[in-house]
Amino acid sequence: MAALVLFGGGGDLAMRMLLPSLYFLEYDGLLPEGLKIIGAARSDESRDDYVARVRAAVEGKARADDAWTDEAWARLDARLDYLPVDATDPASLKPLKDRVGDGGVTSFLAVSPSLYGRIVTALKAAGLAEATDRVVLEKPVGRDLQSFLQIDDAVAHAFSEDQVFRIDHYLGKETVQNLIALRFGNTIFEPLWNSLSIDHVQITVGETVGVGDRWPYYDEYGALRDMLQNHMLQLLCLVAMEPPSDLDPDSVRNEKVKVIRSLRPITEHEAERVTVRGQYVAGTSEGKPAKAYSEERGQASDTETFVAVRVDIDNWRWAGTPFFLRTGKRLAEKRTEIVIQFKPVPHSIFDHGERGHIAANRLVIELQPEEDIALSVMNKKPGLDQRMQLQPIQMSLSWGQGDKGAKPPRRRIAYERLLLDALAGDSTLFVRRDEAEQAWKWVDEVSDAWRGAAFKPKQYAAGTWGPQEADLLLERGGRAWNTGH
Ligand code: BG6
Repeated sequence: MAALVLFGGGGDLAMRMLLPSLYFLEYDGLLPEGLKIIGAARSDESRDDYVARVRAAVEGKARADDAWTDEAWARLDARLDYLPVDATDPASLKPLKDRVGDGGVTSFLAVSPSLYGRIVTALKAAGLAEATDRVVLEKPVGRDLQSFLQIDDAVAHAFSEDQVFRIDHYLGKETVQNLIALRFGNTIFEPLWNSLSIDHVQITVGETVGVGDRWPYYDEYGALRDMLQNHMLQLLCLVAMEPPSDLDPDSVRNEKVKVIRSLRPITEHEAERVTVRGQYVAGTSEGKPAKAYSEERGQASDTETFVAVRVDIDNWRWAGTPFFLRTGKRLAEKRTEIVIQFKPVPHSIFDHGERGHIAANRLVIELQPEEDIALSVMNKKPGLDQRMQLQPIQMSLSWGQGDKGAKPPRRRIAYERLLLDALAGDSTLFVRRDEAEQAWKWVDEVSDAWRGAAFKPKQYAAGTWGPQEADLLLERGGRAWNTGH
């Protein structure tokens, strides 16, 4: 690959995530030799000014991670360039094409998705969609199935599917990949990984931030489209999929798409029983007063900032084991976790009241704030009690347990893995067209059901875990959200 072009190269995503990731890859000596990195955006900025901005965005992060060296920066600096372009206009892309030559270009579209269609068409016309070129698309691609297909048809006109890299940055997170290792690198979990042994699965993506000035985007999307359609369904797929025959992009994605196709549609009639919509009102978040969403928005709105859903997967492995998904802004904690709740033992031989209580095994895969995998198992309390006393203990399966005393590896930005893979042409951790399509189809059914049932968001105070209906969603089946941390 000769060049990586960051369209929207001066914007928020580029400065917060992409360029710091590229610096860290440079620091570790992982960027392909000779790769040029070109920021491309509308503003008429000089190369020097752009590079100074990049340095300002990168240096603090790198120093905080003890990963700043002048040499690494000098190497990145030497690759960097800036070109003012109108990416929707092939004539304006001509100087860019001249600059990058013919060795293969990866175009990363870190711009508004409403421009994707026009940009890919212009890239094609400008000779930047040749067989050796690639395109990387940030989410959200579309707002529903129809708009997704419209954009994606334009993409498919310019690039073949193996040249297209649809990002879901959750797939670049270390613990998400560790989940694949855990499931398919061990024999002890897989025989139990089904509805015979697993009571239910919980996936929580809790955020304490509010929507703030992102509301013009957010108000159109809401939690369902911003988080559930992509990140949460991807996590669900990795938990629920059948073992792929290898780690080839298509082997893995074939299995994921089968899961999405098996999701039971949510009907208007069912919406109230299996889904919860919420919107935050004023409260206290992380010790500070927090405004209501409608106040940030400047007027009342029916957009949900919280969603919880009971998802049933209609296949042999999972029939009878519900997956509970919840996500929201201004929740009590920033916490992302997957909880595999096993069934209780069929018969307790320790049955002597409270003290003999056996807590069913639980595997907690924590993605944020810490990266950890912990299995709770019952253990004998040491002592000479006549009747054996049990207690749950947590077995940590996290990295530190494998290599005691060694310095933990630096916590990577999810985009580091994804940029490296896109540059190498490996699409295993990217979303294939049919996956995105099926996910939109299912999400459209949910939003149609909400519309049909005139299902408005319930209020919850900022700084709480959402509307109480989200608790009832589990309590109805005698279950509860994990609070054990
Ligand atoms: C983005 C959403 O895709 O993911 C944001 O648009 C959300 O609304 C973010 O805050 C969460 O990502 P992370 O990695 O911080 O969990």
